[in-house]
Amino acid sequence: QRRSVIEGVGSYLPARIMSNADLARMVDTSDEWIVERTGIRERRIAAENETTGDLAINAARDALERSGVAASEIDLIIVATTTPDNTFPATAVKVQAALGIEKGAAFDLQAVCSGFVYALTVADSLLKAGQGTCALVIGAETYSRILDWTDRGTCVLFGDGAAAVVMRAVDGKGTIEDRGILAARLRSDGRYRDKLYVDGGVSSTMTVGHLRMEGREVFKHAVVNIATVMADTIKDAGLEPKDIDWFVPHQANRRILEGTAKKLGVTEDRVVMTLDKHGNTSAASIPLALDTAVKDGRVKRGDLVLMEAMGGGFTWGAVLVRW
Ligand code: ACO
Repeated sequence: QRRSVIEGVGSYLPARIMSNADLARMVDTSDEWIVERTGIRERRIAAENETTGDLAINAARDALERSGVAASEIDLIIVATTTPDNTFPATAVKVQAALGIEKGAAFDLQAVCSGFVYALTVADSLLKAGQGTCALVIGAETYSRILDWTDRGTCVLFGDGAAAVVMRAVDGKGTIEDRGILAARLRSDGRYRDKLYVDGGVSSTMTVGHLRMEGREVFKHAVVNIATVMADTIKDAGLEPKDIDWFVPHQANRRILEGTAKKLGVTEDRVVMTLDKHGNTSAASIPLALDTAVKDGRVKRGDLVLMEAMGGGFTWGAVLVRW
């Protein structure tokens, strides 16, 4: 029997900062409106020649260095992204080549904002099944490329970035006290696919398309779906919300995070929030938040950390880990 532990986390953000004031010069909006409705103050925007793959490679290098794991040990790479460099091959093989890795397997995973939670769960399952020993799980996005920069209802919400974790399979099933992934739940419901989508694609329009969203509908479902999947995942591990040290949620909207925390009876001082600085970076937002909380000393070895997300599809899910 095996389980997988997370050895470390790393990140990379593009240098360019776009503030709410910058956006107010492009569309009819204001810093006050954006902060009040979302909590977002600024986001990063990739340079013209900087791709999702470039962000992913930089994040992977940082994660490897901070985990003390050599690239040569990695035999599984999953890049969670909705904004890949090319239709194919996968952005993950670009990362694999850049790191000089010639063994194992690399592929992309597409579950929009839930991508990181999905990718962690898939990597955990593959490692447990013996398909490799060390995995790189990366969330990387360049949403700036699919935003309609004339639509104030969506363009103020998103940003670019990448972050990654290094996972290692260890022998033994482990107990609740041992480091590693303790429980995970994945969900989707395609009936809601038109509430948040990109209006283009290879097989339908031959265009890249732009992000479209019914914000209120998304908001309504997000709080209920996320609170339910969090509670179920905590219960799967035989725990209660009060036992969790840190909640590291997908960073979509401060009001969604406050709403779900309230539903679970969790105080906000245990919720890691980075959306003021990053905006919504889709699949990258959870590892970026985790990276911040590990770096500033909040998340320590042995802490119980719950990650959760909801996104287009709808897809949603949660992963509980003993850090
Ligand atoms: N600046 C100023 N006014 C704006 C802006 C803006 N950037 N965007 C919309 N408005 C206006 C609207 O046009 C509308 O004006 P009207 O009353 O004259 O028609 C008014 O503000 C209210 O619009 P609503 O969409 O009803 O505003 P709401 O309070 O619902 O806030 C928001 C919008 C922030 C998008 C909210 O619905 C939300 O956060 N939804 C969740 C969406 C989300 O987080 N998606 C991310 C992907 S999914 C995920 O990750 C969970």
